Amino acid sequence: MKYDVKNLKLAELGKKRIEWADNDMPVLQNVRAKFAKTKPFKGQKMSACLHVTAETANLVRTLKAGGADILLVASNPLSTQDDVAAALVKYYKIPVMAIRGEDKNTYYQHLNAALKHKPVITMDDGADLISLLHSKYKAWAPNIKGSMEETTTGVIRLKAMEAEGKLNLPVIAVNDAQTKNMFDNRYGTGQSTVDGIIRATDILLAGKYVVAAGYGWCGRGFAMRARGMGAKVIVTEVNKIKALEAAMDGFDVMPIKAAAKIGDLFCTLTGDIHVLRAEHFKLMKDGAIVCNSGHFDVEIDIKALKKLSSKVRKGVRNFVDEYTVGKKRIFVLADGRLINLAAAEGHPASVMDMSFSTQALASEYVARNYKQLDNKVYYVPQNIEETVADLKLKAMKIAIDKLTPEQEKYLASWSIGT
Ligand code: ADE
Repeated sequence: MKYDVKNLKLAELGKKRIEWADNDMPVLQNVRAKFAKTKPFKGQKMSACLHVTAETANLVRTLKAGGADILLVASNPLSTQDDVAAALVKYYKIPVMAIRGEDKNTYYQHLNAALKHKPVITMDDGADLISLLHSKYKAWAPNIKGSMEETTTGVIRLKAMEAEGKLNLPVIAVNDAQTKNMFDNRYGTGQSTVDGIIRATDILLAGKYVVAAGYGWCGRGFAMRARGMGAKVIVTEVNKIKALEAAMDGFDVMPIKAAAKIGDLFCTLTGDIHVLRAEHFKLMKDGAIVCNSGHFDVEIDIKALKKLSSKVRKGVRNFVDEYTVGKKRIFVLADGRLINLAAAEGHPASVMDMSFSTQALASEYVARNYKQLDNKVYYVPQNIEETVADLKLKAMKIAIDKLTPEQEKYLASWSIGT
């Protein structure tokens, strides 16, 4: 078995962390038990390009239980948990090519290996794998039954490819499932971003001005959790409706240039480029902390910050670099990469349970129905969302009501009015 991980000696610790995460992933356990019987991927090669975490380990175990010959590579150079990668190789016999802190060259060597594996089903988080497929491995694309996309940024890229007529395989936008984004993007990002910031800095959030750039699901989650910790939260937006929503949720809403003068801590969660740039750094207070929780490290213009700075001190603390701009210091966390996976452990297992059960069931759907799929971006079928929600409710021991026949009839009729 070919693999490239940091150190197999870390495997025991990784196995314990995988098992600990699995305790909080009852829906995925259920899917795994079903796959072990039905083997929907029997003998099929799969490649997954995902954050290599304990939760992802439980997903790839599930696909392997379903008969897949699966290879895992990292979807970000800084998010790999080396102990988990080692455990997957040593104890679960799943090939992994991922090393935390790998350079861009190694990152792409690993992505190349994922495509040389000749997968017929792929999984991506950010669409780097599919982008590489469409450049260097174009000839292989027709062999792929379908791909799953885990994150907002990836879905945006794939929809752009579809709009240009360049998408050469069917894609299921797992990110757009309610069982994914309402929970993972909101509560997962909300908690893990605060977790990453605190682990990196050890700051007290209470009483601080915290600026959340972006009020999508991730921004909403982060703003909500930062407020819960006692921060005075300011939201910045470009979308009129989201800005109104933030205002009516009780947050201060203002342009980022106005917020730049006030914030103690800035977090970008937009999916767009150069949200924090030179004009903003110049206005920030001494000691301002900036970080990013969006998928790519493009949201903070670090090059511009470097240019403005008379001095840069790397690693004043783990994950913290100090930039001196005039007489002021600005602290950048985790090189502007996603703070929740770089400085913390990503979203908690309980929420990844829903995302990865949706991933696993969407993959089964592709394996069974690929002949009916065109080269388009598809929503996750509603019955998969219902299954995941149902199993999660059961695992949480929450019972809900059912419509009475009279209520069903009422909802299906138009004749009863005032
Ligand atoms: N994305 C965010 N959190 C994650 C986690 N724990 N595992 C995999 N992908 C993630």
